[in-house]
Amino acid sequence: MSDSPDTTRESARPERSSTRPSAAPGAERRLLFDRVMVAFTLFTLMVCTYLFATAPAALPETDVDDAETSVSVRALLEICAAENARVRNIYTSRIVGPGKKAGLSFSEDWLDPDVFAGPLPALFLRETARNLEKRPEPLGLFLGSDAPLSEANLFRGMQADEFAALRASGEPRHFFTADVGVHTAMFPDLAVAPACVDCHNEHANAPKRDWKLNDIMGATTWTYPKATVTLREALSVVDALRSSVREAYTTYAEKTQTFEDPPEIGELWPINGYYIPSPDTFMREVEDSVSKATLDRLIAER
Ligand code: HEC
Repeated sequence: MSDSPDTTRESARPERSSTRPSAAPGAERRLLFDRVMVAFTLFTLMVCTYLFATAPAALPETDVDDAETSVSVRALLEICAAENARVRNIYTSRIVGPGKKAGLSFSEDWLDPDVFAGPLPALFLRETARNLEKRPEPLGLFLGSDAPLSEANLFRGMQADEFAALRASGEPRHFFTADVGVHTAMFPDLAVAPACVDCHNEHANAPKRDWKLNDIMGATTWTYPKATVTLREALSVVDALRSSVREAYTTYAEKTQTFEDPPEIGELWPINGYYIPSPDTFMREVEDSVSKATLDRLIAER
């Protein structure tokens, strides 16, 4: 069926109307019949266009996303751990280390309004974890240990057993925490610098004072409720982590502006002097160094 009958009738209409008075009742009925047919044809075309061109196209798209591009929770948590390890490294080696030399302070009481300091690396992570909790994506982050400075960081129950296994093997652990219904991944947190060992051994609350370089001091622990996620969900989770890191860094940057002598915020880093990078500069550095590995991992999962 096409709309050509319609065109024919349209062009024929003036002729017909001029002859209308003499037209037989049969011709009138036929004209009415033709009009109904044209309307019916147009209606059918509209329905066909909707059914075969519009509506079905949307359905397979959703199906493909759900069925074919799923990412395992293991891969998702490994991606998050790798990104966060990079953040921790950049924050520790490019902000805290050179920052101290440039005259900046870092303290466990950094959130106290009377303390003019930034967060220690473990507390930068805790700030990131707190920001994550406020987001809709159900990604959990926790830095724990079997001999923590802070009681709140003690592994308990099944996590304590898994951490013992991690300590014995030195390898990450992937398991399901049944009581809270979350898939869990634990990654060793190593004493990579003398400062880790010194500070933890000398701390007033230290439950253990013989940490050595390269010891496993704890484990970065990630949780997520689902066994697999769609690619879109995986991207949202990575975005949630990056946003939470940005927010933690922004809180630090804003805090420095309450110092008696606030450092300049911009493109420069503490290695250049009494400066700290802006949140944009910090995040660009993080993203530039993690994005390729994250993309490669997501491609490998497909
Ligand atoms: C200047 C002191 C200091 C330095 C340097 C330091 N930490 Fe900590 N770390 C702390 C404090 C204080 C806490 C407890 C923070 C809290 O209240 O949660 C902590 C927490 C931790 C935790 C969680 C378990 C616990 O002990 O509460 C781990 C694991 C950890 N740090 C590992 C490291 C590693 C690895 C390094 C080196 C890359 C490091 N720390 C550097 C002071 C330090």
